[in-house]
Amino acid sequence: CGIVGYIGEKQAENILMTGLKRLEYRGYDSAGVAIVNNDTLHMQKREGKVNELETALDSAPIEGTVGIGHTRWATHGPPSDRNAHPHVSSDGDFALVHNGIIENYGVLRKRLKEKGYTFQSDTDTEVLVYLIEEVQNEAGLALPEAVRQALTQVIGTYGIAVVSASDPDLLVAARKGSPLLIGVGDGEYFLGSDAAPLVEHTRQVVYLSDGEIVTIRRGGYQVRTIENVPMEKEVHELEWTLGEIEKGGYEHFMQKEIMEQPTALEDAMRGRVLPDDNKIVLGGLHDVMDDLRDADRVIIAACGTSWHSALVGEYLIEHFARTPVEVEYASEFRYRNPILRDGDVVLVISQSGETADTLAAVREAQRQGVMCLGICNVVGSTIARETDAGVYLHAGPEIGVASTKAFTAQVIVLAMIALKMAEDRTLSHAEFADAVHALASIPDKVRTTLEMDGQIEKMANIYRYSSNFLYLGRGFNFPVALEGALKLKEISYIHAEGYPAAEMKHGPIALIDRFMPVVFIALKDSTYDKVVSNIEEVAARDGSVIAITDEGNGELDELCEYVLRIPQTQEFLSPLLAVVPLQLLSYHIAVMRGCDVDQPRNLAKSVTVE
Ligand code: G6P
Repeated sequence: CGIVGYIGEKQAENILMTGLKRLEYRGYDSAGVAIVNNDTLHMQKREGKVNELETALDSAPIEGTVGIGHTRWATHGPPSDRNAHPHVSSDGDFALVHNGIIENYGVLRKRLKEKGYTFQSDTDTEVLVYLIEEVQNEAGLALPEAVRQALTQVIGTYGIAVVSASDPDLLVAARKGSPLLIGVGDGEYFLGSDAAPLVEHTRQVVYLSDGEIVTIRRGGYQVRTIENVPMEKEVHELEWTLGEIEKGGYEHFMQKEIMEQPTALEDAMRGRVLPDDNKIVLGGLHDVMDDLRDADRVIIAACGTSWHSALVGEYLIEHFARTPVEVEYASEFRYRNPILRDGDVVLVISQSGETADTLAAVREAQRQGVMCLGICNVVGSTIARETDAGVYLHAGPEIGVASTKAFTAQVIVLAMIALKMAEDRTLSHAEFADAVHALASIPDKVRTTLEMDGQIEKMANIYRYSSNFLYLGRGFNFPVALEGALKLKEISYIHAEGYPAAEMKHGPIALIDRFMPVVFIALKDSTYDKVVSNIEEVAARDGSVIAITDEGNGELDELCEYVLRIPQTQEFLSPLLAVVPLQLLSYHIAVMRGCDVDQPRNLAKSVTVE
């Protein structure tokens, strides 16, 4: 979900609405705003996308210079006007928006019902509203103090923002497990669950930490802990620019992000991959590199697309550094009491740096006293701050819900880490230098690969009607097959499965008939001959094969319906090229099927609930 807030001299509605649009990628099943004007709380909320709310506000604008807004990804209660945030206290005095989950909401709800509160929605958030109201009324407290005391009774996670009709110079916010940033302006302050709604107003931000609450007035702000200890907070400079979070001439963010991969990869390697000196420099890991190189085992935990890059990371680190690697779904890792030992290093990967399951894996590693490293894209994100050390992707903001450039940037960072671990150990100087040069040449090869866009669009026109797809790859490109399938199902709602190519004969082969397109990654590498046999097996059963192979390879033309040729590179870097046509294929199919590419149904960009 996304939260935005404003307090200052300007009209809040506009600021909140542009903010909500920029945050919409975090959740988009309903949206709402509450604005205080003339000691009255004015609210509007709507099921559906932010556009629906905008239409409602167009016919009934709200004046006022302090307000909050929310765009929702449903957890408790289906998307509806009723369940949309903000939620208002029973006396109509204050409104609250909430991200996260109140875990003890059942107990609290029962208690509040007994005290006479009537619940209007199915959300856990409404419990929080009445709890604050109850605390406030019983002890006659000012709102910020009532919020603080109420939060001490809450089990679960929250990022909240509150405004009050009776105190129009007040915006209260608090966080535990769900990110919040304060944007510091001149006589005005902004609130956001990420930087996106803040960038056009200010570059100065304060990151709230877990267990902190802030009282913001036009004249200044004060942060305290939930235990009421005042905190001095550092003001940070934002990295994102407005241009980076806008579409800049592209139809969709996803398309923009696919197309900007060459630059994203250059940015990820800038100052780190130095081919002239045959060097890789990873400043963020400098102090821990010796421990990492000496690790007995690396455990990589992540979710979704980041989990796929983790699988490539496993192949990379084992191949180069010869350190055993295990890849875990962060959600599974956390909840099965994993066995960690001295000499283990946990590495988490998260584009947003906010995924709750991945964050839980970080905390589990720390609880067991094991070093935890992070690979994140969003600077200042919770995972980036809580891990012991790490590497930023520097891929620029990723707004499209289906991850593209973050995947390739993660893979390139993992390649840098693997090589750095192997330098002067398992790799000779010459082998290392060779790999560094191969890395440096990748962005241009991705550029060449992207030139296939038109060809893939034509192909998409044929395959858009298929209802199932199979993606197969081996070795470094087995995870790419998984990622290709995920991209297609996420944005086009076509059922797709990814498999290691050789595993096909143990099950998925039963699905193959002439209606089943099978995408093979069949590069001329160590697994090529075996993959060609797998293609033969599919062709023999009338399956329609799309193959991704190397430039200049004509051997597959007879067997396959379509052959897409990508530039040659060293085998370990081929996922960076092979994934590109798969991203483009799913993008074009989804567009042709009329799907909402940037905001696919039911998904959200960063899932801050477990
Ligand atoms: C969500 C997104 C996926 C993403 C996953 C992990 O489910 O829809 O696209 O891969 O979270 O996100 P992270 O920010 O941790 O990489």
